[in-house]
Amino acid sequence: MTSQDDLFHPVIELPEAVRRARYNRLVGLDSMKARLRKEAALLADPRLLQAWASRHHGGDVAALALFADRSPLFVFTGDVGSGKSALAESFGCDLADQLDLPVFLYRLKLATRGSGLVGEMTALIGDAFTHLHAEGRRAQGPRGANSVLILVVDEADAFVQSREAQQMHHEDRAGVDAFLAGIDSLASAKIPVIVVLCTNRVGALDPAVMRRAAATFTFTRPDTQQRHAVLTQALDGLAIRPETIDKLVVLTGPSTDRSGYTFSDLTQRLVPAAVLHAFPDHPVRDEDLLALAEQLEPSPVFTEEH
Ligand SMILES: Nc1ncnc2c1ncn2[C@@H]1O[C@H](COP(=O)(O)OP(=O)(O)O)[C@@H](O)[C@H]1O
Ligand SMILES: [Mg+2]
Repeated sequence: MTSQDDLFHPVIELPEAVRRARYNRLVGLDSMKARLRKEAALLADPRLLQAWASRHHGGDVAALALFADRSPLFVFTGDVGSGKSALAESFGCDLADQLDLPVFLYRLKLATRGSGLVGEMTALIGDAFTHLHAEGRRAQGPRGANSVLILVVDEADAFVQSREAQQMHHEDRAGVDAFLAGIDSLASAKIPVIVVLCTNRVGALDPAVMRRAAATFTFTRPDTQQRHAVLTQALDGLAIRPETIDKLVVLTGPSTDRSGYTFSDLTQRLVPAAVLHAFPDHPVRDEDLLALAEQLEPSPVFTEEH
């Protein structure tokens, strides 16, 4: 059995200040956050739904049975740099506040194993779920959960590809099957474990994985308002004129010959580039920001290469 350190990055207890701030800074994801808050709370503590039914419908409600067999899986798909990882690793802060329980964030070490031997990935995924099972059972007290575990499987592109895509690549499907088995076992065990799977490959996602998901969230590039909000937040304190921000919003949007900026193009490329351009001799100037926005190419739109 693989040790916890080989399976997961260091486990983080939420809420935690840095991640809470990151969660709050995420722009334009409010409806996703709201849905996730409800879904996650119900997966972690199904009794909340019974309490709601008693309060508002006086008891037995047939629809509750539909919730009982749902898998504790959320799928985050969509464009790169659009907040999938950021939300996956921070929504536990909100969940912790809401349930008033500690939430433990487990992040599977997937990157190190893509090229591994056949069977290796399968074994590691199996071990990861076995581990979560044990921890999850401990988190389930006689009067409900005393903590919640979130497993984030990030950059899961390689192992959740559909059968067809895998065959084209002559790869092994065992990883997906191990993952599905793990999800199913969690669903039947009724322990407070939630799995979030992040992938950039919407199209190639295995249908069996899609079917399991309690909810699938699709992340996109920011629209005009969202670019405005992100830029205003990121440029705060630099005394940039509101007209300049308006111009930047237009420059970083889609045009006839190219797509618009991603969220991370704004926060991790444009604004840092402007700061580095100014550092160390002069302040960030409006005209430099505008010039940079004209030069910087947005990240290419992720396309399936098969
Ligand atoms: N909705 C958003 N609002 C504000 N900033 C965002 C948003 N989405 C992404 N970012 C910025 O982009 C960075 C990268 O996002 P990330 O979650 O890693 O993208 P993904 O996992 O979808 O590729 C974040 O750390 C954050 O700075
Ligand atoms: Mg990511």
